[in-house]
Amino acid sequence: MKIHVRNNVNWVGKIDWELLKFHGNEYSTHRGSSYNSYLVQEEKTVLIDTVWKPYAKEFVENLKKEIDLKKIDYIIANHAESDHSGALPELMRHIPDTPIYCTENAVKSLTGHYHQRWNFRPVKTGDTLDIGNGKKFVFVEMKMLHWPDSMASYLTGDNILFSNDAFGQHYASEHMFNDLVDQAELFAECIKYYANILTPFSALVEKKINEVLALNIPIDIIATSHGVIWRNNPVQIVEKYLAWSKNYQENQITILYDTMWDGTRIMAENIAAGIRGADSAVTVKLFNIGKTDKNDIITEVFRSKLILVGSPTIGRGITSATAGILEMIEGLKFKNKKAAAFGCYGWSGESVAKINGILEQAGFALADQGLKCLWNPDEPAIEQCRNFGAAIAKR
Ligand code: FEO
Repeated sequence: MKIHVRNNVNWVGKIDWELLKFHGNEYSTHRGSSYNSYLVQEEKTVLIDTVWKPYAKEFVENLKKEIDLKKIDYIIANHAESDHSGALPELMRHIPDTPIYCTENAVKSLTGHYHQRWNFRPVKTGDTLDIGNGKKFVFVEMKMLHWPDSMASYLTGDNILFSNDAFGQHYASEHMFNDLVDQAELFAECIKYYANILTPFSALVEKKINEVLALNIPIDIIATSHGVIWRNNPVQIVEKYLAWSKNYQENQITILYDTMWDGTRIMAENIAAGIRGADSAVTVKLFNIGKTDKNDIITEVFRSKLILVGSPTIGRGITSATAGILEMIEGLKFKNKKAAAFGCYGWSGESVAKINGILEQAGFALADQGLKCLWNPDEPAIEQCRNFGAAIAKR
C-alpha cells in the first residue's frame, strides 16, 4: 500500500490498527498508530525511515512492489528508535551497501540496537543531500526531541518537513491526512503525545521551533513518523507545540485519588464540591488512579494549573497505583504547577507527608500542607474537605 503525498513523494509505511500499548506498557494507544515511511523518487531515490520490527517483512515485501530495492540510492534514518528503524536489518539484507544518512548520535544508537556496520553517512544541521531535479534534502538535528539522535529532514522544491516524532500522534487512520480525520480525535491524540513524551523537553521544543522558523523556509507539508500528515495549515500544529512548550496550563484542577474502602474517594468528591462552590469557572476533574489509564491521567495533569493527589495510607506509605502515577509525574518534569495531597488513614497516616515529598521533588509548589482524615469521613470531616477545596480554589 502506498499513499501519494506530493509530486514524487509517497507514504510507504504501516498503519497499525491493533496496537494497544507502545513503549512496552508505558503508553496506551487507544486509537492505534502508524509508522510512517516515505519514498522520494527524483533522479535519486530516497527512503525515509522504516517501520517497527514486527512489520519488517511486510514492509519490505510491500516496498518491493513499489520499487526494485536496488534502485534505492539513499536511506535517511531520522531516528534510531525501534518503531522507525525496526525494519532496517531486513531491508539492509537486500541492499547492504546503501548509504544511511543520520546523525552522529544515530550511528551510535543504530549500532547499539543492531550491531551492524552499515554504510553510515553522519550529517549535521545544515548539511544537504542533492537528489536531482533541482531538489535536495536539508538536515536539521533535533537533539533530545526526543532522543539524542533525533533529526528532521526538509525537502526543498516540495517544501516538506519530515519531522519524525515531532508533531506526530498515535492515531491510526486510513485517511492519513490531517484535514480528512476527526479533529477532536486528532488533537486529543496530539496533546496526549506531547504531554506524555515531550513535556520534559519543552524548553528545547520552543528553541528548536524558533530556530526552524528563523530559517524562513516555506513548509507546505509536515510529514511526521506517526499518525497524520499535516498538509492543511501545517502551522497549526507548530503553534500548538509552541503553546504547549510554554509551561502550558488551562483553568483546570485535577483530583487524582486512589481508595481502598471509599474514604479517600469521599474526600476527593467533597474537595471537588468545595472547589466548585468557591470558583464556578474552574474545570474540576476527578480520576480514580487505580481505574484510569495512566497516560490519560498525565494528559489531564498537563492541562492543569493545580493537581490534588489523594491516597489512603497502606502499610507505611501510599497505594501502588498512586506511587506509579507519581513516578510518571516526577519523570515528566512539569513546571509552574501547584499541588496538594489528601488521604484517609486508620493509625499511622503517612500518606499525605509521603505524597507531599514526592510532589515537591517533582517540582510542584505545595498549595497546602494537605488534609488527612482519620477512618471514614464523618460530617465534620466532610465539611473540612469542602473547606479545604474552597481554600485551594482561592489559591
Ligand atoms: Fe516514534 Fe521516538 O520513536
